[in-house]
This record gives sequence, structure tokens and C-alpha cells, in this order.
Amino acid sequence: MNMAKITASVYTSHVPAIGAALDLGKSGEPYWQPLFKGYDFSKQWLKDNQPDVIFLVYNDHATAFSLEMIPTFAIGCADSFTPADEGWGPRPVPVVQGHPELAAHIAQSVIQQDFDLTIVNKMDVDHGLTVPLSLMCGQPQAWPCPVIPFAVNVVQYPVPSGRRCFELGKAIRKAIESFDKPLKVQIWGTGGMSHQLQGPRAGLINKEFDNAFLDQLIADPEGLASKPHIDYVREAGSEGIELVMWLIARGAMADVAGGPAPKVAHRFYHVPASNTAVGHLILENK
Ligand code: DHB
Ligand code: FE
Repeated sequence: MNMAKITASVYTSHVPAIGAALDLGKSGEPYWQPLFKGYDFSKQWLKDNQPDVIFLVYNDHATAFSLEMIPTFAIGCADSFTPADEGWGPRPVPVVQGHPELAAHIAQSVIQQDFDLTIVNKMDVDHGLTVPLSLMCGQPQAWPCPVIPFAVNVVQYPVPSGRRCFELGKAIRKAIESFDKPLKVQIWGTGGMSHQLQGPRAGLINKEFDNAFLDQLIADPEGLASKPHIDYVREAGSEGIELVMWLIARGAMADVAGGPAPKVAHRFYHVPASNTAVGHLILENK
């Protein structure tokens, strides 16, 4: 069959300081070395498992959107997306090329599966999207393939539940695998892990929570999807809620639709990076 296929899912934090470390040539410094070392495998893996398109689930941090407009789920259907100026000028990274044809197909299919998506035809992309690309690709002249940005509101309450994100992942899988071109598609879930950037608990990191989350994401995503918001906030900090985006990518994997369990190609955890815990996982569909 000449249909598109989800070949793998990638999960990673998107700490902005990681982007700054790369852009300012500091990735070899002792503080950063152990973090970037955890992604050496991943960079080679991405070269060996080159996708045709990356469907990248991330959150905008009041960059493209603001309190004036807060879409819960937004799909980027443009030809290209410019790295955003988040206050220090845009990151010196390549412009992100989109895949309007596949994005429009996914929008059609997922909306018909009763999820309300906001269609975005012009959008700058912030560290939520560019830092995962940098971690996985290094510093290339151009990103290795087109990317469909999929922005989730995890910044301003009310935010979507883990359950809804997981169900959305299932719908995205159906959408992608009903596209009649033989594209290899990876789905990336980004953000997290435990972190809190404000208030008396700023700097909170919870290794036990994070590692239990990784275990359950691999082995029991359905069970993990029922974790309520309040548990994320209590245990992983106010910004730990970014982790619900990982459930979108996990919900799109083959085993959730009755296929074989994924292969854990890589797992990495490191603290701290800036104020946060960094988690990373690569799951391959067999
Ligand atoms: C920071 C910002 C983020 O969006 C995030 O997910 C982690 C850390 C920060 O400003 O340090
Ligand atoms: Fe963030």
C-alpha cells in the first residue's frame, strides 16, 4: 500500500537554555556536556531513520499566541514557519519548511473525527519547536525534512486533559495513515519534564515522578492518560503539565491501535538543565 506510515515517536524536553547553549557555542562546557551526550545516539538514529515528515507536537509560550487568542490545538498548514523573536532576536536556526498537503489532510481527517483544531496559515515558532529540532539534528544548514507544527495550549488554563491528548493521538494516527502517499512520518511529543518556573516552588524537580512517567509512557500509556491535571501540578510542578503533549505522540503509536509494542530505541534522563529536568525517549514502531 502506498500510504503514509508513522514509523517512530520521539519525546524530548525543550528547555530554551539548551538552544542558547548551542547558539552561543557553549555545548562543550562541563555543565552542558552530559546533556548533549544523551542526544549523540539520537542524532545518529535520526540520520539512520530519516523521516519524510515530522509531525511535531509542542507548545507555544505566548509567542505566536497571547491572551488575545488561545487555541487549544492548532495545526500549522503554512509552507514555512520562521523562528520567533522571543526577546533576544530569533535563534540562528533554519526556517522550518512545512508540509501543507499532509497538514491539510490531517486537519480534514482529525476535525471529521470530532476534534476541534485551529488552522494556522501563518505562525512563528518558538523554542518549544526549535529546541527539540536542535537536540535531534544539531546545527544543520537546513532541517532534514518538512515539519508540521502542532501547538497545544498548556500555558493558560483551561488546558486539555491527558486523556483528551491521548485520544487525539489516536485520531492523528488514523489521519496520517489515510494519506495516500508513501511518506515515513515521525511524531514528536515535546516539553516537560518536571519543572516550575515561578512562585515559591520555582526550581522544583521530581526525578521519581519523571522516571515513573517514562516507565508508564512506554508500558501503560492508556493508564497514564487517566492521570489528572492536579497530579502533574502537584508532583511535576506548574510547567510539568507540558508532559500531556507526550501522550499525543504516544497515542499515535501502533500498539495503541492493536499493533505490536514499540521498541525502546533510546532512553535518557538528566538533571538539571537550567531549572528543569530533561527527559528523552525514542520509540520505534515494529
Ligand atoms: C524554561 C522554559 C520552558 O518553556 C520550559 O519548558 C522549560 C524551561 C525556562 O525558561 O527555563
Ligand atoms: Fe516550555
